[in-house]
Amino acid sequence: MSTNWPRHDMSFLNGHRPRRLRQAQWVRDLVAETVLTPADLIWPMFVIEGRNEKTSIATMPGVDRLSIDLAVEAAKQARDAGIPALALFPNTPGELRTSDGREAFNPDNLMCRALSAIKSAVPEIGLIADVALDEYSSDGQDGLVRDGEILNDETVDVMVKSAIVQARAGADVIAPSDMMDGRVGAIRRALDAERFEQTLIMSYSAKYASCFYGPFRDAVGSGSRLIGDKKTYQLDFANSDEALREVAADLDEGADMVMVKPGMPYLDLVQRVKAEFSVPTFAYQVSGEYAMIEFAGAAGAINRDAAVMESLLGFKRAGCDGILTYFALEAARRLGE
Ligand code: PBG
Repeated sequence: MSTNWPRHDMSFLNGHRPRRLRQAQWVRDLVAETVLTPADLIWPMFVIEGRNEKTSIATMPGVDRLSIDLAVEAAKQARDAGIPALALFPNTPGELRTSDGREAFNPDNLMCRALSAIKSAVPEIGLIADVALDEYSSDGQDGLVRDGEILNDETVDVMVKSAIVQARAGADVIAPSDMMDGRVGAIRRALDAERFEQTLIMSYSAKYASCFYGPFRDAVGSGSRLIGDKKTYQLDFANSDEALREVAADLDEGADMVMVKPGMPYLDLVQRVKAEFSVPTFAYQVSGEYAMIEFAGAAGAINRDAAVMESLLGFKRAGCDGILTYFALEAARRLGE
């Protein structure tokens, strides 16, 4: 390399030097457009029967299924770290899973007992209850199945009953994750009729038929039961206009908040939804996304701790009001340091 080349004429920059804004941490902080705080985080939690029980999930290193007493303790930690809400998912014992999914509306089911135990011990934290049949059904599908077909309206009837027992048990937010047509409207009407006008609905509005849910299905025990796929109800990942129509329908039916799911490969949807509707918009950094970061970190391919925070900030930058993430407790604690 020659060292005596002339210095290039940079006058074409006309004084613009974008790197000035990046020269030191203080100025980077000063001009940062997006911040992540513990109040942006929702912590999904898997509950199991038993006392002082904790079981690990091979495909989600670092996440445990918790018995209700331990879930209560975890809820206190979440509250202390500034997390505003938890999203609960039950791993229903196998013998209670039936093809009619009736355990979903048993007022004494695992989910309802978890909701009421956490609500009475930690009333300040918001409780988001997933409503879908895969956590209760022997078929692993989110809907009722007849001759291989997923039944829409019959499923909605069961979901409405499930939502009502959850609201009675202490759920602050009902979160239908099943993608049946009309479920938001049916749940809203039923809640209102039962004087649960204040119970919120966070709809999984733009939920795609995704391979990234694999580890979750291990966590709730639906994966090994699932025959076929969920493509007749969850969205085709080639589409985004279709997702906007789903969001519009859910808002029209009474959803207070909407969600995009999965998260990282779908941030274009977050941006479109927020721009189009200006409503509280959430995204779910799902189990497979969690697993990618954990396993890539463990393999030394990426800096795991940095990847956690970078991925979460990306959701905020895209326009999310909040993020459902298995990293919530860790991230909230790091943000609070
Ligand atoms: C159930 C439900 C799923 C997830 C949340 N609720 C799985 C599915 O639809 O198959 C996935 C969450 C995750 O992967 O972390 N209806």
